[in-house]
Amino acid sequence: MILLESLKSYSQSIDKIAMKKYYSNISDDELYSFTKITFDLWQTITSLIDKIKKHSHKRKIRVVDVGGGKGDISAIGLKLGYEILLTDIFPDFLKEAESKYPKLKGKTFLLDIFNEEQVIEFINEQGFFDVVLCLGFVLNHTDSQKKFIKGFENLIKLSNSYSIIVIDLMISDMYIGKPSILWSDFHHYLPSLEILTKLLNKHGLVIEAFHSIKYDYGEYKNYHYQENGARFFLLKFY
Ligand SMILES: C[S@@+](CC[C@H](N)C(=O)[O-])C[C@H]1O[C@@H](n2cnc3c(N)ncnc32)[C@H](O)[C@@H]1O
Repeated sequence: MILLESLKSYSQSIDKIAMKKYYSNISDDELYSFTKITFDLWQTITSLIDKIKKHSHKRKIRVVDVGGGKGDISAIGLKLGYEILLTDIFPDFLKEAESKYPKLKGKTFLLDIFNEEQVIEFINEQGFFDVVLCLGFVLNHTDSQKKFIKGFENLIKLSNSYSIIVIDLMISDMYIGKPSILWSDFHHYLPSLEILTKLLNKHGLVIEAFHSIKYDYGEYKNYHYQENGARFFLLKFY
């Protein structure tokens, strides 16, 4: 049993190293999850906020950008007048975000979204959020259904009552016959639509909008690397 646990933790640290290696070698364009289609993230958020918080606009809307990388998405939100905290698992990204966008200074935090203790400590210090962003397939960056569910539920913990959770997900039903081991540099877990539906039902979340996301990384070692996913705008009406 002890051996099994040690092997698991060894494989997790190998995975974290592989992920760090991958992220330190990619361009900012590859990191940043802009979508090439016409739906604008912040426009959609603004119209959903009007819908969900019609009568409570007396204070700034609080946003947390989970796994926000180098802060490109947070920076746009700041310009639009949202109060934003940027979080990521890699300190170097947060440092870079602060120097690229000085307005993010003091607003960046290390946070592993799969770690419940860290999330609770973060909430105790920073409070809850009206908008929780988890973009660029952050929740797929794990190796088991159990951890995925934990990460998903941690996002819900971060959210205020009457809030919006925006989450990018690769879904296993979009990858029939193409296990992630074929195309990824480190472990990915892809939930099925069935699991996602169960989670939405369990937590009373409503899909208010969603659209597709596609990344095309081109050919590498005779394989054409593409990622398909969806961006879900979930509403929490409680
Ligand atoms: C593809 S990038 C997306 C960056 C940004 N959210 C965007 O959409 O442009 C994935 C990000 O997730 C971060 N990440 C990976 N594992 C994480 C974890 N367990 N908790 C929080 N962030 C994580 C990575 O460091 C990286 O910045």
